Amino acid sequence: MDARKFRDTLGQFATGVTVITGKTENKLIGMTANAFSSLSLDPPLILVCIDKKSSSMEAFMKDQPFAVNILEKNQSEDCWRFAKRSEDKFVGCAYDFSHDGVPILKGNLATIHCDVDAILEGGDHYIVTGRVKSVDYDNEKEPLLFFRGKMGELAMTEAT
Ligand SMILES: Cc1cc2nc3c(=O)[nH]c(=O)nc-3n(C[C@H](O)[C@H](O)[C@H](O)COP(=O)(O)O)c2cc1C
Repeated sequence: MDARKFRDTLGQFATGVTVITGKTENKLIGMTANAFSSLSLDPPLILVCIDKKSSSMEAFMKDQPFAVNILEKNQSEDCWRFAKRSEDKFVGCAYDFSHDGVPILKGNLATIHCDVDAILEGGDHYIVTGRVKSVDYDNEKEPLLFFRGKMGELAMTEAT
């Protein structure tokens, strides 16, 4: 199968955009990811697929805390900032810390606080599952969307 066509075909699936944040002993970690999914309601689990080559993987170890930041429509700058490899992606970025020391991007649409449950093999990616500890969202905000390699936002149709 043609690799380009495979990627382009997956790009037909419109998604939201998340920044996965975590920490190592001496560094804050953040990476843009749209391979995020709900997994289980009881117990509450989510998953995210992370490239085995990603330097961010060092933050993901069993029982370590991390957060899924679901971006809102005006956070495309954060999307690109956290998609590029860099020594400190957080310079110039507004964030707070969760009680367990994970950076949480200010102005998010939603935040999902987790501990790593399992790290599974998935080809050239790891499937990281997260046990959800707490959640938060802002009902007034709208999501940033990703489709065919471009950012967009919802065109809401009023319910009739
Ligand atoms: C919209 C978008 C979605 C992305 N989704 C993922 C993803 O789900 N998993 C992944 O491993 N990389 C994804 N990436 C690429 C990573 O963000 C990027 O490779 C990573 O942040 C590089 O930095 P790092 O090596 O410091 O982790 C995505 C990039 C963009 C722009």
